[in-house]
Amino acid sequence: MKAITLPATRPGSRILGTGAYRPERVVSNAEICELIDSSDEWIRERSGIIERRYAAADESVTDMAMEASGKALASAGVAATDIDTVLVATITHPYQTPSASAELADRLGTHKAAALDVAAACAGFCYALAQADALVRAGSSTYVLVVGVEKLTDIVDFTDRGTSFIFADGAGAVVVGPADQPGIGPVVWGSDGAQKDAITMTQSWAQYRRAPADKWPALTMQGQAVYRWAVGEMADVCRRTVAAAGLTLDDLDVFVPHQANMRITDSLLRQLSLPDHVVVSRDIATTGNTSAASVPLALDALVSSGQARSGAIALLVGFGAGLAYAAQVVTLP
Ligand code: UT7
Repeated sequence: MKAITLPATRPGSRILGTGAYRPERVVSNAEICELIDSSDEWIRERSGIIERRYAAADESVTDMAMEASGKALASAGVAATDIDTVLVATITHPYQTPSASAELADRLGTHKAAALDVAAACAGFCYALAQADALVRAGSSTYVLVVGVEKLTDIVDFTDRGTSFIFADGAGAVVVGPADQPGIGPVVWGSDGAQKDAITMTQSWAQYRRAPADKWPALTMQGQAVYRWAVGEMADVCRRTVAAAGLTLDDLDVFVPHQANMRITDSLLRQLSLPDHVVVSRDIATTGNTSAASVPLALDALVSSGQARSGAIALLVGFGAGLAYAAQVVTLP
């Protein structure tokens, strides 16, 4: 009988380099409050956000992904021509098809790399990172570019006081390659579609097409329900993720939760009682919530500023619309 041959598997993969792109335009809480009934004080207190970045009107998801990817490739010391797979986590690439990843793979100058978009909202980057790790370990890919990018300002209703102050734009990227020892731990992930309405669109594009006089589809969120889910369930996800990697919470050096709300980060810290030496990302203060871009942006900020050292053990956790979540422990480049 004929048998299928598989490539040689590898003992592990790791993040080789990180990169980020933060759009030029800084938007203050005062500017946000020009369109909603709110205040700088309320936004800071309830979300921890002081300011955020908005992309320019003509700046696309792939433009931002290009910038972050170029930096990640340079910091990894990997040429674009060596990238064989491009994974882009995003919910705001404004074309149903073709994918942002296929466009990015071409614009970067890869040799026609495999390309796939991942739509898992704020958990998207951690979902894509898990795929990259699996592809490299299975021998299906050697170097994978993983990007989290959003232009949420394209789908935010600036007059909705439940969402307008939170969401923002940006891109973060990492390059994943082979390693002698695992540098990316097992993913712990899942979803709860029964809560799909907690973060959704006001209507579908098909509905809008039938009644074009309607307001265009915009992001809408039941903030309290999402908040309760995140603080109620993500601490356990974090514990399970660290255990799955064969580690304890005391082994962690760095904690990079999705930058959803500073109060969610604080709640997770209280529940997990992380040791004092753990460096915790608080990137949301100046970046806002950038959904799929938030974890790689936050990670890059800690790595590039030297706040997190090379070789440090970091716990990443993404959570949001779906409701979906994904988490893994990684060794920093
Ligand atoms: O990234 C995807 C995952 N997303 C998240 O994890 C977000 C999770 N949710 C949150 O972060 C929070 O729910 C928000 C920051 C969105 C809202 O904070 P909250 O503390 O849950 O506010 P709330 O909706 O419970 O509203 C509290 C009060 C209400 O007034 P009353 O009824 O107490 O008088 C609201 O009407 O604050 C009022 N309010 C506002 N006030 C000023 C709601 N939005 C605003 C606003 N400015 N923008």
